[in-house]
Amino acid sequence: MAGLIQRTTKKLECLAARNKAAYNVLALYYKRIVHKEIRLADINEKDRILCVGGGPCPFSGILLHEHTKAHVTIIDNDEYCVEVSRQLVRKLGYENYIEIRHGDGSDICPEDYTVIHMALQVSPLDKVFRYMKQKCKLGSKILVRIPKKYLAHTYNIHDLAVFNAYSKKANHPFRNIDSTALFIVY
Ligand SMILES: C[S@@+](CC[C@H](N)C(=O)[O-])C[C@H]1O[C@@H](n2cnc3c(N)ncnc32)[C@H](O)[C@@H]1O
Repeated sequence: MAGLIQRTTKKLECLAARNKAAYNVLALYYKRIVHKEIRLADINEKDRILCVGGGPCPFSGILLHEHTKAHVTIIDNDEYCVEVSRQLVRKLGYENYIEIRHGDGSDICPEDYTVIHMALQVSPLDKVFRYMKQKCKLGSKILVRIPKKYLAHTYNIHDLAVFNAYSKKANHPFRNIDSTALFIVY
């Protein structure tokens, strides 16, 4: 089941990266979520954002840039996703503002970023979150998307309790994402 959801998401995103109509339809799913996340973490153009897990069509990273003008670095540990998303970012004319890198969330250095954004499908979500919390600069904000309880078993999360001590959160009704939790690292 878990693998099926991840594979279906990737297939839909591959389609969206190459087809404008599919892009516009799927972007609707993310727009409200990202708007709430921008308000939750009070993101502005001076921030430097790291998105972990961009996929072939990194809607969240693109929307974060479009709505804040902040520089965004997106990483993915799948080389194919990196290639497809780089082509999309070039096509959109965002190559000076959005950088796509190949890498894993559990070994990239997050020190240069003021905001770290973690996709729901990041695997394992709790382990990568712990790593980010340890390695990022003091004062950094970490945004983590948390699944609905009944869907949690379909994602690679061993210990949901690590997400209990958030500063604030934004709820996302009618989505497979339950909420985005904000952590401010002190
Ligand atoms: C399908 S995307 C979903 C994100 C969505 N496109 C968005 O804009 O919010 C999730 C991606 O996370 C990547 N991923 C999963 N675990 C990761 C990790 N530990 N480090 C980096 N990327 C990871 C997967 O390869 C996948 O492409």
